[in-house]
Amino acid sequence: MKITLKVWRQKNKDSKGAFKTYEHSHVSSDMSFLEMLDVLNEALIKKNEEPIAFDHDCREGICGTCSLYINGHPHGPLQTTTCQLHMRSFQDGATITIEPWRAKAFPVVKDLVVDRTAFDRIQQVGGYVNVNTGGVPDANEIPIPKRIADEAFDAAACIGCGACVAACKNASAMLFVGAKVSQFALLPQGKVEKKERVEKMVAQMDAEGFGSCTNTYACEAECPKGIKIANIARMNREYFGAMLSSYQVETDGGE
Ligand code: FES
Repeated sequence: MKITLKVWRQKNKDSKGAFKTYEHSHVSSDMSFLEMLDVLNEALIKKNEEPIAFDHDCREGICGTCSLYINGHPHGPLQTTTCQLHMRSFQDGATITIEPWRAKAFPVVKDLVVDRTAFDRIQQVGGYVNVNTGGVPDANEIPIPKRIADEAFDAAACIGCGACVAACKNASAMLFVGAKVSQFALLPQGKVEKKERVEKMVAQMDAEGFGSCTNTYACEAECPKGIKIANIARMNREYFGAMLSSYQVETDGGE
């Protein structure tokens, strides 16, 4: 295959970026998108040019590190991660535009790499489950209806790649935060601290500069793990419930 790549190049977070065009003729339709970039980078290095910086780690669709905005879609034309996208999804002779995730809360570090530590900080304030459930057999003795266990598991499938933010015109992180809130709030072990957790995570999400959800469903359409927008509704219910009970405690305490 022969392709033309228009790639966003940016030296560092303070410099102004621009698209640079590369003609790439050593492309096999069986290559993954990242392998295609590896081959291009090898050629650039041979020519003493700076290789294109992009994020990747597992290359198995499980870590959420890869993050390219390809032809106007996070992770490209398929609902999968960039590392699981193959060049057979593109036509011979195609022009492919590659950009970093675009969001104020995800500043560009270099070329196609963005700083997604905002997600880490949101998760950190949420904490973890402090309930001592004993050993694995004891924890397994807590009865959890199958439907609830499945919903919690589906929410926990979020790999935190940030495609939801990149897809959203408001750069909202509510699908990510909704999934992280849900995976704990649905389960008995996570319910104990659920009020405090949702209040802190939503406050951190706002502090990081993410936008609000206006129900365009773009996040759900692009999420490589199929996280459902119902998680946003659940997060909102959990949040308002927590706020209401904090208000009641304050009111009762004042009487
Ligand atoms: S590199 Fe891990 S999900 Fe793509």
